[in-house]
Amino acid sequence: MSSLLPGATLGIIGGGQLARMMIFEARRMGYRVCVLTPDRHAPAVALADRWIPGRIDELEAGNQLAREVDVITLDTEHVPASMLAELERIRPVRPSSSVLRTIQDRRAQRRFLDIINAPQPRCLPVDTLAELREAAASLGFPCVLKSRRSGYDGKGQAVIAAAHQLEASWAAIGARPAMLEEFVEFDAEISVLLARNPRGEMRFYPVARNVHRNHVLHTTVAPAPISNAVEAEAFEIAARIANALDHVGMMAVEMFLVGGSTVLVNEIAPRPHNSGHYTFGACVTSQFEQHIRAVFDLPLGDPSLPRPAAMVNLLGDLWHNGEPDWTQVLARAEARLHLYGKAHPRPGRKMGHVLVLDEDPLLALDASEELIARLEASGARRSVGGEQISCHG
Ligand SMILES: Nc1ncnc2c1ncn2[C@@H]1O[C@H](COP(=O)(O)OP(=O)(O)OP(=O)(O)O)[C@@H](O)[C@H]1O
Ligand SMILES: [Mg+2]
Repeated sequence: MSSLLPGATLGIIGGGQLARMMIFEARRMGYRVCVLTPDRHAPAVALADRWIPGRIDELEAGNQLAREVDVITLDTEHVPASMLAELERIRPVRPSSSVLRTIQDRRAQRRFLDIINAPQPRCLPVDTLAELREAAASLGFPCVLKSRRSGYDGKGQAVIAAAHQLEASWAAIGARPAMLEEFVEFDAEISVLLARNPRGEMRFYPVARNVHRNHVLHTTVAPAPISNAVEAEAFEIAARIANALDHVGMMAVEMFLVGGSTVLVNEIAPRPHNSGHYTFGACVTSQFEQHIRAVFDLPLGDPSLPRPAAMVNLLGDLWHNGEPDWTQVLARAEARLHLYGKAHPRPGRKMGHVLVLDEDPLLALDASEELIARLEASGARRSVGGEQISCHG
Protein backbone atom coordinates (compact mmCIF):
# COMPACT_ATOMS: atom_id res chain seq x y z
CA MET A 1 0.00 0.00 0.00
CA SER A 2 1.27 3.49 -0.77
CA SER A 3 0.45 6.68 1.12
CA LEU A 4 -3.21 7.44 1.65
CA LEU A 5 -3.80 11.15 1.25
CA PRO A 6 -6.47 13.38 2.87
CA GLY A 7 -9.93 12.35 1.74
CA ALA A 8 -9.23 8.72 2.73
CA THR A 9 -11.11 7.16 5.65
CA LEU A 10 -9.64 5.92 8.93
CA GLY A 11 -11.48 3.16 10.77
CA ILE A 12 -10.99 3.01 14.56
CA ILE A 13 -11.99 0.04 16.71
CA GLY A 14 -12.92 1.44 20.12
CA GLY A 15 -14.38 4.84 20.93
CA GLY A 16 -12.49 6.14 23.98
CA GLN A 17 -10.42 9.28 24.47
CA LEU A 18 -7.53 8.04 22.33
CA ALA A 19 -9.91 7.63 19.38
CA ARG A 20 -11.41 11.03 20.15
CA MET A 21 -8.03 12.80 20.06
CA MET A 22 -7.02 10.92 16.90
CA ILE A 23 -10.23 12.21 15.30
CA PHE A 24 -9.46 15.87 16.19
CA GLU A 25 -6.20 15.55 14.30
CA ALA A 26 -7.49 13.36 11.44
CA ARG A 27 -10.33 15.74 10.64
CA ARG A 28 -8.07 18.77 10.84
CA MET A 29 -5.92 17.10 8.18
CA GLY A 30 -8.92 16.38 5.95
CA TYR A 31 -9.41 12.66 6.64
CA ARG A 32 -12.74 11.00 7.31
CA VAL A 33 -13.21 8.74 10.33
CA CYS A 34 -15.51 5.83 11.08
CA VAL A 35 -15.63 4.43 14.65
CA LEU A 36 -16.73 1.01 15.86
CA THR A 37 -17.93 1.01 19.47
CA PRO A 38 -21.05 -0.29 21.25
CA ASP A 39 -21.73 2.98 23.06
CA ARG A 40 -23.50 5.89 21.37
CA HIS A 41 -22.13 8.18 24.12
CA ALA A 42 -18.47 7.05 23.82
CA PRO A 43 -16.04 10.02 23.66
CA ALA A 44 -15.23 9.49 19.97
CA VAL A 45 -18.73 9.06 18.54
CA ALA A 46 -19.81 12.71 18.55
CA LEU A 47 -16.71 13.65 16.54
CA ALA A 48 -16.65 10.82 14.01
CA ASP A 49 -18.07 11.09 10.50
CA ARG A 50 -19.72 7.73 10.99
CA TRP A 51 -20.46 5.37 13.88
CA ILE A 52 -20.83 1.59 13.54
CA PRO A 53 -22.53 0.22 16.66
CA GLY A 54 -20.97 -3.06 17.77
CA ARG A 55 -18.71 -4.64 20.35
CA ILE A 56 -14.96 -4.43 19.72
CA ASP A 57 -14.80 -8.24 19.55
CA GLU A 58 -17.71 -8.61 17.12
CA LEU A 59 -16.39 -9.91 13.80
CA GLU A 60 -19.47 -8.95 11.76
CA ALA A 61 -19.25 -5.31 12.94
CA GLY A 62 -15.51 -5.40 12.23
CA ASN A 63 -16.15 -6.64 8.70
CA GLN A 64 -18.61 -3.82 8.13
CA LEU A 65 -16.01 -1.31 9.33
CA ALA A 66 -13.35 -2.85 7.08
CA ARG A 67 -15.57 -2.52 4.02
CA GLU A 68 -16.16 1.19 4.68
CA VAL A 69 -12.63 2.42 5.43
CA ASP A 70 -9.13 2.48 3.87
CA VAL A 71 -7.11 1.48 6.92
CA ILE A 72 -8.02 0.23 10.41
CA THR A 73 -6.44 1.24 13.70
CA LEU A 74 -7.20 0.70 17.38
CA ASP A 75 -8.13 2.72 20.44
CA THR A 76 -7.30 -0.23 22.71
CA GLU A 77 -5.07 -3.31 22.61
CA HIS A 78 -7.93 -5.49 23.84
CA VAL A 79 -9.38 -6.22 20.38
CA PRO A 80 -8.96 -9.98 19.76
CA ALA A 81 -5.92 -10.66 17.56
CA SER A 82 -7.87 -13.44 15.80
CA MET A 83 -10.50 -10.93 14.70
CA LEU A 84 -7.84 -8.52 13.44
CA ALA A 85 -6.29 -11.36 11.41
CA GLU A 86 -9.67 -11.76 9.67
CA LEU A 87 -9.97 -8.02 9.01
CA GLU A 88 -6.45 -7.93 7.56
CA ARG A 89 -7.79 -9.98 4.65
CA ILE A 90 -9.94 -6.97 3.72
CA ARG A 91 -7.91 -3.89 4.78
CA PRO A 92 -4.53 -3.07 6.36
CA VAL A 93 -4.74 -3.17 10.16
CA ARG A 94 -2.14 -1.00 11.93
CA PRO A 95 -0.91 -2.13 14.42
CA SER A 96 -1.19 -5.63 12.92
CA SER A 97 -2.76 -8.76 14.40
CA SER A 98 0.70 -10.20 14.98
CA VAL A 99 1.75 -7.20 17.10
CA LEU A 100 -1.45 -7.54 19.10
CA ARG A 101 -0.96 -11.29 19.57
CA THR A 102 2.42 -10.59 21.20
CA ILE A 103 1.26 -7.65 23.32
CA GLN A 104 -2.12 -8.89 24.58
CA ASP A 105 -0.71 -11.74 26.62
CA ARG A 106 1.79 -10.62 29.26
CA ARG A 107 3.54 -13.98 29.03
CA ALA A 108 3.99 -13.71 25.25
CA GLN A 109 5.14 -10.10 25.69
CA ARG A 110 7.75 -11.10 28.29
CA ARG A 111 8.96 -13.99 26.11
CA PHE A 112 9.31 -11.64 23.14
CA LEU A 113 11.31 -9.16 25.25
CA ASP A 114 13.51 -12.02 26.36
CA ILE A 115 14.17 -13.12 22.78
CA ILE A 116 15.32 -9.64 21.74
CA ASN A 117 17.40 -9.28 24.92
CA ALA A 118 15.48 -6.34 26.31
CA PRO A 119 16.19 -5.88 30.04
CA GLN A 120 13.14 -6.55 32.23
CA PRO A 121 12.18 -7.38 35.82
CA ARG A 122 12.57 -11.04 36.86
CA CYS A 123 9.24 -12.77 36.30
CA LEU A 124 7.64 -16.22 36.10
CA PRO A 125 4.41 -17.52 34.58
CA VAL A 126 1.89 -18.95 37.08
CA ASP A 127 -1.20 -20.95 36.13
CA THR A 128 -2.21 -22.32 39.54
CA LEU A 129 -1.99 -21.33 43.20
CA ALA A 130 0.66 -24.02 43.70
CA GLU A 131 2.76 -22.46 40.90
CA LEU A 132 2.24 -19.03 42.47
CA ARG A 133 3.66 -20.32 45.78
CA GLU A 134 6.69 -21.77 43.97
CA ALA A 135 7.28 -18.60 41.93
CA ALA A 136 7.01 -16.39 45.03
CA ALA A 137 9.54 -18.59 46.84
CA SER A 138 11.92 -18.03 43.93
CA LEU A 139 11.34 -14.25 43.39
CA GLY A 140 10.86 -13.25 47.05
CA PHE A 141 8.62 -10.55 48.57
CA PRO A 142 7.28 -8.07 47.77
CA CYS A 143 6.20 -9.20 44.31
CA VAL A 144 3.49 -8.23 41.84
CA LEU A 145 0.90 -10.61 40.43
CA LYS A 146 -0.58 -9.59 37.07
CA SER A 147 -3.24 -11.44 35.09
CA ARG A 148 -1.96 -12.37 31.65
CA ARG A 149 -4.79 -10.70 29.76
CA SER A 150 -7.13 -7.68 29.87
CA GLY A 151 -5.26 -5.52 32.38
CA TYR A 152 -5.22 -1.73 32.39
CA ASP A 153 -4.84 0.98 35.05
CA GLY A 154 -3.62 -1.69 37.48
CA LYS A 155 -6.75 -3.83 37.09
CA GLY A 156 -6.07 -7.55 37.47
CA GLN A 157 -2.97 -6.81 39.59
CA ALA A 158 -2.02 -7.40 43.21
CA VAL A 159 1.09 -6.45 45.14
CA ILE A 160 1.96 -9.31 47.49
CA ALA A 161 3.91 -8.31 50.60
CA ALA A 162 4.17 -11.69 52.35
CA ALA A 163 3.41 -15.40 51.97
CA HIS A 164 0.13 -15.25 53.91
CA GLN A 165 -1.33 -12.97 51.18
CA LEU A 166 -0.71 -15.41 48.31
CA GLU A 167 -4.07 -17.14 48.39
CA ALA A 168 -6.11 -13.92 48.71
CA SER A 169 -4.10 -12.27 45.90
CA TRP A 170 -4.66 -15.27 43.64
CA ALA A 171 -8.42 -14.98 44.30
CA ALA A 172 -8.32 -11.18 43.88
CA ILE A 173 -7.08 -11.41 40.30
CA GLY A 174 -9.74 -14.05 39.54
CA ALA A 175 -7.54 -17.17 39.84
CA ARG A 176 -6.52 -16.73 36.19
CA PRO A 177 -3.27 -17.47 34.33
CA ALA A 178 -0.88 -14.73 35.39
CA MET A 179 2.71 -13.52 35.61
CA LEU A 180 4.49 -12.99 38.91
CA GLU A 181 7.09 -10.19 38.81
CA GLU A 182 9.67 -9.04 41.30
CA PHE A 183 8.67 -5.71 42.85
CA VAL A 184 11.03 -3.15 41.36
CA GLU A 185 12.24 -0.42 43.75
CA PHE A 186 12.57 2.09 40.95
CA ASP A 187 13.98 5.63 41.12
CA ALA A 188 11.49 6.74 38.49
CA GLU A 189 9.13 5.53 35.79
CA ILE A 190 9.77 6.78 32.28
CA SER A 191 8.21 6.16 28.90
CA VAL A 192 9.61 6.25 25.41
CA LEU A 193 7.09 7.35 22.81
CA LEU A 194 7.92 6.66 19.22
CA ALA A 195 6.20 6.49 15.87
CA ARG A 196 7.12 4.05 13.12
CA ASN A 197 5.69 4.00 9.59
CA PRO A 198 5.47 1.04 7.17
CA ARG A 199 8.82 2.01 5.59
CA GLY A 200 10.46 1.56 8.99
CA GLU A 201 11.10 5.29 9.54
CA MET A 202 10.95 6.26 13.22
CA ARG A 203 10.62 9.45 15.28
CA PHE A 204 11.15 9.71 19.04
CA TYR A 205 9.53 12.14 21.45
CA PRO A 206 11.49 13.49 24.41
CA VAL A 207 11.44 10.85 27.17
CA ALA A 208 8.65 11.45 29.68
CA ARG A 209 8.79 10.80 33.43
CA ASN A 210 5.60 9.42 34.93
CA VAL A 211 4.15 9.26 38.43
CA HIS A 212 1.39 6.76 39.14
CA ARG A 213 -1.12 6.82 42.00
CA ASN A 214 -2.88 3.55 42.82
CA HIS A 215 -1.40 2.09 39.60
CA VAL A 216 -3.05 4.84 37.50
CA LEU A 217 -0.99 7.52 35.74
CA HIS A 218 -1.16 10.76 37.73
CA THR A 219 1.41 13.12 36.17
CA THR A 220 3.82 13.18 33.23
CA VAL A 221 6.64 15.64 32.75
CA ALA A 222 8.80 16.07 29.65
CA PRO A 223 11.65 16.20 29.06
CA ALA A 224 12.45 13.74 31.86
CA PRO A 225 15.42 14.69 34.06
CA ILE A 226 17.66 11.83 32.87
CA SER A 227 21.21 11.67 31.55
CA ASN A 228 21.99 11.49 27.83
CA ALA A 229 23.30 7.96 28.35
CA VAL A 230 20.03 6.74 29.91
CA GLU A 231 18.05 8.46 27.17
CA ALA A 232 20.16 6.81 24.46
CA GLU A 233 19.72 3.40 26.06
CA ALA A 234 15.94 3.88 26.45
CA PHE A 235 15.65 4.92 22.77
CA GLU A 236 17.76 1.98 21.62
CA ILE A 237 15.64 -0.57 23.52
CA ALA A 238 12.37 0.97 22.27
CA ALA A 239 13.64 1.00 18.68
CA ARG A 240 14.68 -2.65 18.95
CA ILE A 241 11.15 -3.51 20.15
CA ALA A 242 9.37 -1.55 17.41
CA ASN A 243 11.61 -2.98 14.66
CA ALA A 244 11.37 -6.56 15.91
CA LEU A 245 7.57 -6.30 16.00
CA ASP A 246 7.52 -4.50 12.61
CA HIS A 247 5.13 -2.16 14.38
CA VAL A 248 3.27 0.60 12.53
CA GLY A 249 1.83 3.57 14.44
CA MET A 250 2.61 5.16 17.79
CA MET A 251 4.13 3.00 20.49
CA ALA A 252 4.87 3.64 24.14
CA VAL A 253 7.43 1.58 26.03
CA GLU A 254 6.98 1.99 29.80
CA MET A 255 10.23 1.53 31.72
CA PHE A 256 11.54 1.56 35.28
CA LEU A 257 14.73 3.48 35.97
CA VAL A 258 16.74 1.66 38.64
CA GLY A 259 19.99 2.55 40.42
CA GLY A 260 20.34 5.78 38.43
CA SER A 261 21.40 4.18 35.17
CA THR A 262 19.63 0.86 34.49
CA VAL A 263 16.35 0.68 32.58
CA LEU A 264 13.94 -2.27 32.74
CA VAL A 265 10.97 -2.64 30.40
CA ASN A 266 7.63 -2.71 32.26
CA GLU A 267 5.29 -3.01 29.30
CA ILE A 268 4.61 -2.08 25.70
CA ALA A 269 1.53 -0.19 24.47
CA PRO A 270 1.20 -0.34 20.65
CA ARG A 271 -0.82 2.89 20.30
CA PRO A 272 -0.92 6.52 21.45
CA HIS A 273 -0.46 6.53 25.22
CA ASN A 274 -1.62 8.56 28.22
CA SER A 275 2.00 9.55 28.95
CA GLY A 276 2.07 11.10 25.45
CA HIS A 277 -0.94 13.35 25.97
CA TYR A 278 1.47 16.18 26.69
CA THR A 279 2.50 16.09 23.02
CA PHE A 280 -1.01 17.33 22.07
CA GLY A 281 -0.47 21.05 22.56
CA ALA A 282 3.22 20.94 23.51
CA CYS A 283 4.98 19.24 20.55
CA VAL A 284 5.14 20.40 16.95
CA THR A 285 3.39 17.14 15.93
CA SER A 286 1.11 15.50 18.51
CA GLN A 287 1.22 11.74 19.08
CA PHE A 288 -2.27 11.56 17.52
CA GLU A 289 -1.23 13.26 14.27
CA GLN A 290 1.92 11.13 14.26
CA HIS A 291 -0.15 7.95 14.63
CA ILE A 292 -2.36 9.00 11.73
CA ARG A 293 0.69 9.80 9.59
CA ALA A 294 2.16 6.38 10.37
CA VAL A 295 -0.97 4.33 9.64
CA PHE A 296 -1.62 6.22 6.38
CA ASP A 297 2.04 5.66 5.39
CA LEU A 298 2.89 9.37 5.27
CA PRO A 299 6.26 10.93 6.16
CA LEU A 300 6.40 11.37 9.95
CA GLY A 301 6.13 14.83 11.54
CA ASP A 302 8.50 16.80 13.76
CA PRO A 303 8.23 15.47 17.35
CA SER A 304 10.20 18.29 18.94
CA LEU A 305 9.02 19.98 22.13
CA PRO A 306 9.59 23.76 21.98
CA ARG A 307 8.82 24.28 25.71
CA PRO A 308 8.83 21.76 28.56
CA ALA A 309 5.42 20.44 29.56
CA ALA A 310 3.59 18.65 32.36
CA MET A 311 0.30 16.78 32.24
CA VAL A 312 -1.99 15.84 35.12
CA ASN A 313 -4.88 13.41 34.70
CA LEU A 314 -8.39 14.38 35.81
CA LEU A 315 -9.98 11.28 37.33
CA GLY A 316 -13.67 10.84 38.10
CA ASP A 317 -12.95 11.21 41.84
CA LEU A 318 -12.65 14.95 41.22
CA TRP A 319 -16.40 15.07 40.57
CA HIS A 320 -17.33 13.83 44.05
CA ASN A 321 -19.11 17.10 44.77
CA GLY A 322 -20.27 17.84 41.24
CA GLU A 323 -18.52 19.54 38.33
CA PRO A 324 -15.09 20.93 39.33
CA ASP A 325 -14.56 24.69 39.04
CA TRP A 326 -12.89 24.87 35.61
CA THR A 327 -12.24 28.61 35.93
CA GLN A 328 -9.26 27.56 38.11
CA VAL A 329 -7.66 26.13 34.96
CA LEU A 330 -9.12 28.45 32.35
CA ALA A 331 -7.82 31.58 34.12
CA ARG A 332 -4.21 30.39 33.73
CA ALA A 333 -2.59 31.29 30.40
CA GLU A 334 -0.01 28.51 30.72
CA ALA A 335 -2.63 25.78 31.29
CA ARG A 336 -4.89 23.99 28.80
CA LEU A 337 -7.97 21.99 29.69
CA HIS A 338 -8.83 18.73 27.90
CA LEU A 339 -12.13 17.00 28.73
CA TYR A 340 -13.15 13.79 27.01
CA GLY A 341 -16.92 14.31 27.07
CA LYS A 342 -17.67 11.35 29.37
CA ALA A 343 -21.04 11.65 31.08
CA HIS A 344 -20.36 9.40 34.06
CA PRO A 345 -17.49 10.47 36.35
CA ARG A 346 -16.78 7.22 38.20
CA PRO A 347 -13.87 7.11 40.68
CA GLY A 348 -10.62 6.23 38.89
CA ARG A 349 -12.10 6.89 35.44
CA LYS A 350 -9.99 9.09 33.17
CA MET A 351 -12.23 12.09 32.43
CA GLY A 352 -9.67 14.52 31.01
CA HIS A 353 -6.29 16.08 31.65
CA VAL A 354 -4.61 19.44 32.06
CA LEU A 355 -1.49 20.42 30.15
CA VAL A 356 0.88 23.05 31.59
CA LEU A 357 3.78 24.65 29.69
CA ASP A 358 6.75 26.35 31.36
CA GLU A 359 10.40 27.03 30.50
CA ASP A 360 11.29 24.83 33.48
CA PRO A 361 9.83 21.29 33.45
CA LEU A 362 9.77 21.07 37.24
CA LEU A 363 7.87 24.34 37.54
CA ALA A 364 5.39 23.01 34.97
CA LEU A 365 4.97 19.89 37.11
CA ASP A 366 4.52 21.95 40.30
CA ALA A 367 1.91 24.11 38.57
CA SER A 368 0.00 21.03 37.42
CA GLU A 369 -0.03 19.66 40.99
CA GLU A 370 -1.19 23.02 42.29
CA LEU A 371 -4.00 23.15 39.75
CA ILE A 372 -5.27 19.69 40.65
CA ALA A 373 -5.19 20.65 44.35
CA ARG A 374 -7.25 23.76 43.56
CA LEU A 375 -9.75 21.70 41.59
CA GLU A 376 -10.04 19.26 44.49
CA ALA A 377 -10.52 22.14 46.92
CA SER A 378 -13.13 23.82 44.71
CA GLY A 379 -15.31 20.70 44.99
CA ALA A 380 -14.82 20.56 48.75
CA ARG A 381 -15.72 24.25 49.16
CA ARG A 382 -18.98 23.78 47.36
CA SER A 383 -19.99 20.94 49.67
CA VAL A 384 -19.20 23.06 52.77
CA GLY A 385 -22.01 25.40 51.74
CA GLY A 386 -24.40 22.49 52.23
CA GLU A 387 -25.70 22.41 48.68
CA GLN A 388 -24.19 19.45 46.87
CA ILE A 389 -24.24 19.54 43.11
CA SER A 390 -25.16 16.08 41.91
CA CYS A 391 -22.95 14.07 39.57
CA HIS A 392 -24.30 13.51 36.08
CA GLY A 393 -24.98 9.90 36.94
N1 LIG B 1 7.08 -5.09 38.97
C1 LIG B 1 6.70 -3.90 39.45
N2 LIG B 1 7.39 -3.29 40.44
C2 LIG B 1 6.99 -2.10 40.95
N3 LIG B 1 5.91 -1.43 40.51
C3 LIG B 1 5.18 -1.96 39.52
C4 LIG B 1 5.53 -3.22 38.93
N4 LIG B 1 4.64 -3.51 37.96
C5 LIG B 1 3.77 -2.46 37.95
N5 LIG B 1 4.08 -1.54 38.87
C6 LIG B 1 3.36 -0.26 39.10
O1 LIG B 1 2.02 -0.37 38.66
C7 LIG B 1 1.80 0.48 37.51
C8 LIG B 1 0.84 -0.20 36.54
O2 LIG B 1 1.43 -1.43 36.11
P1 LIG B 1 1.32 -1.91 34.61
O3 LIG B 1 1.84 -0.86 33.73
O4 LIG B 1 1.92 -3.26 34.51
O5 LIG B 1 -0.24 -2.09 34.56
P2 LIG B 1 -1.42 -1.88 33.57
O6 LIG B 1 -2.63 -2.24 34.32
O7 LIG B 1 -1.13 -2.60 32.31
O8 LIG B 1 -1.41 -0.36 33.37
P3 LIG B 1 -1.63 0.55 32.08
O9 LIG B 1 -1.98 -0.34 30.93
O10 LIG B 1 -2.70 1.46 32.51
O11 LIG B 1 -0.28 1.21 31.93
C9 LIG B 1 3.18 0.72 36.95
O12 LIG B 1 3.22 1.88 36.17
C10 LIG B 1 3.99 0.82 38.25
O13 LIG B 1 3.78 2.07 38.87
MG1 LIG C 1 1.37 0.36 32.39
